[in-house]
Amino acid sequence: MSTAPAGVADVIALDGPGGSGKGTVASRLASALGWHLLDSGALYRVVGLIALRSGLDLGDAESLAAIARNARIELKRAPAVDSAPSSIVVFVDDIDETDAIRRAEVEQPASRVAAVPAVREALLPTQQAFRNPPGLVADGRDMGTVVFPDARLKIFLTASADARARRRLRQLKDRRTSGSLRAPSGSEREQIAMPADAELAAIRASTEVRDERDRSRPVSPLLAAPDAVTIDSTEMSIDDVMAAVMALVRERGLGR
Ligand code: C5P
Repeated sequence: MSTAPAGVADVIALDGPGGSGKGTVASRLASALGWHLLDSGALYRVVGLIALRSGLDLGDAESLAAIARNARIELKRAPAVDSAPSSIVVFVDDIDETDAIRRAEVEQPASRVAAVPAVREALLPTQQAFRNPPGLVADGRDMGTVVFPDARLKIFLTASADARARRRLRQLKDRRTSGSLRAPSGSEREQIAMPADAELAAIRASTEVRDERDRSRPVSPLLAAPDAVTIDSTEMSIDDVMAAVMALVRERGLGR
């Protein structure tokens, strides 16, 4: 187990592929402990969104890194809702982009910009600045391996591709019924018009492309840290996962 240097807030790192439930678990855990929360995926989504809107070539590493360095991104906490992938509200230059960064068409650009080393480098200090007392729950792909290698507890949360696609579909449907998914975009309207099994297949295909890119990139690939505890949530409810995580938290003497 790693120990944080004296005077530095403790970190719990939660890594894993999309749809593994880590966003929900991270939000609940941060609330239960009264700790800060970092949804690092939101930062990559913001860079992907800005690149998409400005029609930037996703191979232009320098311009992408400039976006990552210069965008004024604020992540604010909102009450945790299980149907939402994250309980944070995202402001970019004072504009609420929470809904925009979660749109289907931002997923692939976000994962493509995340493979650019200069973008990851530019976002490193932004992420590390979230580490403040009393502690930080950090959710992402490389929290335990690169951003907070001295995290007191590292969890790698995974689930089968099928389970993850089903969860994403359920979240999407919940957001549609709750009205939190405002004015669907063109590609989302196409997806909504699909029969449920076609929509599930489309989500699964898109998730697999992202996962493969995240796993195979040379910098900060999606990978369990050697000292991470892996939890496979395929057959578990979010409550089951939370119980397992809280047991580890207590075992390590973390939190209040
Ligand atoms: O977690 P979320 O799906 O919001 O992340 C969006 C994208 O950002 C992921 O597909 C992944 O490529 C990238 N990401 C990353 N490293 C992180 C968090 C997210 O590369 N720590």
